[in-house]
Amino acid sequence: MENFLCLISFILLYYSGDCIQPYFPSQIVFSTDNGQTIIVIDEINQRAYQSLPVYPSNTQRSFAMKNFPYSIPDSPQSKYYVELIIDSSRNICFYETYWKYGGNNFNVFPSHWLLNINSFSIKNYLEFKYIMIHSNDSSQDEDYWYANKECEIDSGGKYPCEEIYFKKNTEIPLRLTQVVNRGLKYIRTTTNFTIISIGKPDEKYFDSIPKNWPTVCEDLDLGLSYYPQFTEIGVNQSVEIHISLSAPPHRIDGNDTVRVQWNTTECIDCFTLSPKEFTFNTKNFQEKQILRITRVKDTSQTKIIPIFNGGGFDIIPPERFSIHLLH
Ligand SMILES: *[C@@H]1O[C@H](CO)[C@@H](O)[C@H](O)[C@H]1NC(C)=O
Ligand SMILES: *[C@@H]1O[C@H](CO)[C@@H](O)[C@H](O)[C@H]1NC(C)=O
Ligand SMILES: *[C@@H]1O[C@H](CO)[C@@H](O)[C@H](O)[C@H]1NC(C)=O
Ligand SMILES: *[C@@H]1O[C@H](CO)[C@@H](O)[C@H](O)[C@H]1NC(C)=O
Ligand SMILES: *[C@@H]1O[C@H](CO)[C@@H](O)[C@H](O)[C@H]1NC(C)=O
Repeated sequence: MENFLCLISFILLYYSGDCIQPYFPSQIVFSTDNGQTIIVIDEINQRAYQSLPVYPSNTQRSFAMKNFPYSIPDSPQSKYYVELIIDSSRNICFYETYWKYGGNNFNVFPSHWLLNINSFSIKNYLEFKYIMIHSNDSSQDEDYWYANKECEIDSGGKYPCEEIYFKKNTEIPLRLTQVVNRGLKYIRTTTNFTIISIGKPDEKYFDSIPKNWPTVCEDLDLGLSYYPQFTEIGVNQSVEIHISLSAPPHRIDGNDTVRVQWNTTECIDCFTLSPKEFTFNTKNFQEKQILRITRVKDTSQTKIIPIFNGGGFDIIPPERFSIHLLH
């Protein structure tokens, strides 16, 4: 209800800043560390961007939005929120999709944007834990808001748990002071905001999304699920491992099939595997298929690494989905 009223008065009183305080403007470009980290939030168009400097001269750029540009038509990425990270220092990029079969791998944006593990939306930069009170005797240049609850810090003293300052009678946030838990200690920290722009963000932040991201960047939601993943297996013994996929394979040029084979390079003749090959598609990806492994020779612990073909799995490091066989 409060948000609804806020939205109405936001439309009516856009420039007065009456209801924006103690929150951030819904469209803003700012920095939390003197211009190094840039954060772009556009709640109205449901998109966000963040760039972080990475030593020595690279940046990690992150994007989150619905209706992500250049997504493949009819793919889950074209329908749900996607978070994409491009790390030029390591020359890698990866993404996840917030839907039934994805999300929950990482998130660089405020944690309250995650509604539950599968759903996401672009919201205000701030979410206060306590009711915020507007001070009636703050300075002439600043509006001061403080939480209705005090928190104690380890070096002594009690302070409002959350405090925020704005330029007087504007929607321009200046700094945020919070009592936070850092490594078992309660301390008081201040974040200074450098405001770059308020209102619809410059398109340049979103123009740098590579057109080929759906195919060249790794989809972290794709993978194999095993039961069991670690197992003991003696000589002349067999185990059965149930295998399924955590998310449906991608449909590439009309083909939604991934072929999974196995690499037993550590000791080629120590195990027999049956069957030699599995195929999963968007219909059967959750159905368990059974891999039967028999140890025919004595060895120490070893692992079996999948070999992927198709379905968007080709760019996934297969070691991540090794089966570990203990002895
Ligand atoms: C500010 O609020 C306090 C507490 O409600 C009140 O006692 C005080 O008179 C107010 N001061 C001004 C300048 O309005
Ligand atoms: C924030 O700004 C104040 C005043 O300019 C300064 O004293 C303080 O060190 C700054 N804090 C941080 C974390 O940069
Ligand atoms: C495994 O089976 C082979 C062939 O049947 C047999 O020669 C060998 O002794 C068995 N090894 C163990 C440890 O049971
Ligand atoms: C099997 O593993 C070896 C060693 O890790 C690797 O060199 C080889 O390329 C793998 N084979 C396939 C088909 O992935
Ligand atoms: C679909 O892709 C799989 C995996 O790469 C491949 O084995 C299969 O032959 C392809 N099917 C068609 C009809 O091209």
